[in-house]
Amino acid sequence: MAGFHVLNRTTGDRFTCQDGQSVLKAMEQLGLKCVPVGCRGGGCGYCKIRVLEGEFECGKMSKVHVPPEAVEKGEVLACRIYPLTDLTIECVPLPEAALAKQTTTKSLR
Ligand code: FES
Repeated sequence: MAGFHVLNRTTGDRFTCQDGQSVLKAMEQLGLKCVPVGCRGGGCGYCKIRVLEGEFECGKMSKVHVPPEAVEKGEVLACRIYPLTDLTIECVPLPEAALAKQTTTKSLR
């Protein structure tokens, strides 16, 4: 099965992302911890990563969470990017406010 290799510089993880599979989905399937998982649809901004090297196809992302100036710095949402080449990425920590909200949400479940 084809796919592209992804290196996460933050965690040191290396994994394969299959054709048509988002980077977030590949990380989730392997149980890799990098970013929180939220909506899986480009809307919540939880899964923000930075692509340091490589090319990818990008689906629709929330401009609130990833404004054009952030995209220029390589920031994207892992649930919305599909590698076209091998990638090198790094994790982008969530702001504290978003982390607190996520903790609250989890504690209510
Ligand atoms: S999980 Fe919500 S934007 Fe990726």
